[in-house]
Amino acid sequence: MSKDKVDIFDTTLRDGEQVPGCKLDAEQKLVIAERLDELGVDIIEAGFPISSPGDFNSVNEIAKLVKNAAVCGLTRAVRKDIEVAAEALKPAKKPRIHTGIGTSDSHIRHKFNSDRESIIERAVAAVSYAKSFVEDVEFYAEDAGRTDNEFLARVCEAVVKAGATVLNIPDTTGYCLPEEYGAKIRYLKENVTGVHKATLSCHCHNDLGLATANSIAGVVNGARQIECTINGIGERAGNTSLEEVVMILRQHPTLGLDTNINSKLLYDTSRMVSEKMGMIVQPNKAIVGANAFAHSSGIHQDGVIKNRETYEIIDPADVGVNESSIVLTARSGRAALAYRAKLVGYELTKLQLDEVYQEFLKFADRKKEILDSDIHEIIEATELDIESVS
Ligand code: KIV
Ligand code: ZN
Repeated sequence: MSKDKVDIFDTTLRDGEQVPGCKLDAEQKLVIAERLDELGVDIIEAGFPISSPGDFNSVNEIAKLVKNAAVCGLTRAVRKDIEVAAEALKPAKKPRIHTGIGTSDSHIRHKFNSDRESIIERAVAAVSYAKSFVEDVEFYAEDAGRTDNEFLARVCEAVVKAGATVLNIPDTTGYCLPEEYGAKIRYLKENVTGVHKATLSCHCHNDLGLATANSIAGVVNGARQIECTINGIGERAGNTSLEEVVMILRQHPTLGLDTNINSKLLYDTSRMVSEKMGMIVQPNKAIVGANAFAHSSGIHQDGVIKNRETYEIIDPADVGVNESSIVLTARSGRAALAYRAKLVGYELTKLQLDEVYQEFLKFADRKKEILDSDIHEIIEATELDIESVS
């Protein structure tokens, strides 16, 4: 079955970098941008050029460096922002300006002290102005998750008419349920005149832990771009995690959707971003957490040793992890011990294994995890005459 392509818009360097205390310097941003390009993302949101001279320079340097992906700069619906972003993006092979404004009643009333008609006028003016600098203009309707669908459709229709090539529908506060977010995308797909001229984009925050589910609901209902970050980093509870959406689409071919991402680089990219931002990846994080392919209970270990697919739905090699790990703890069984002993050079007979296992349990009760070096010690403690062949 031929698959529809979903564009991956990476915002690690913009929305992701808004994590308190995790600022990247210009050099680190360049290294990450180069890796994102290699990973196969379609668009790199490199920063918010008007926000500081440092951000302007980073966007400008990334625009010079990136070979394949489009490079994008964020703006408010403000002429000066757009001019500065256009200037920063000048060297890019594929420049994109990302402009927009809040569309929920709460934003219109409290943030802008304005009304719906004036917001549409500002949105159109911003897109038209951005269009005078670059062909590729993405419009974001901030807080679209809490914007009523009818008004949101009117905004989208007006900006598509003004030339927007991408319609970003952010669930800025991470409030939506997957059904609700999916229905919003479907509503826009069915009710915005001219919507076929633009790509609908999902930009979901994770305040209720639903960012990934909402993004998937979005593409199932017709969106063809997902905005996400490596490790799901971002302000508050973060953004949609790139590695999760990429692997969900890959592991579910019946959805008929795929991305250009080279998944074998996912693990390494995750470590790189984690290290540069000084932000650890939680061990149980899907796809890239240290425990994502580690098995510690005896029943699971026995199953995985017999056939990896018993307890794993992803081949670790597909995301750049060398192999599943069998962690030896007091809950491990003989199969796991024999497997790990073999890896360090001991071929144990059944009788030997019985004896080594009893010694192992004594060790495991004292230690949280048994390392390779402990295995040598355990075998020596049995006083059996077993030679390591490694
Ligand atoms: O979450 C959001 O609404 C945003 C926009 C600025 C795109 O990050
Ligand atoms: Zn955001």
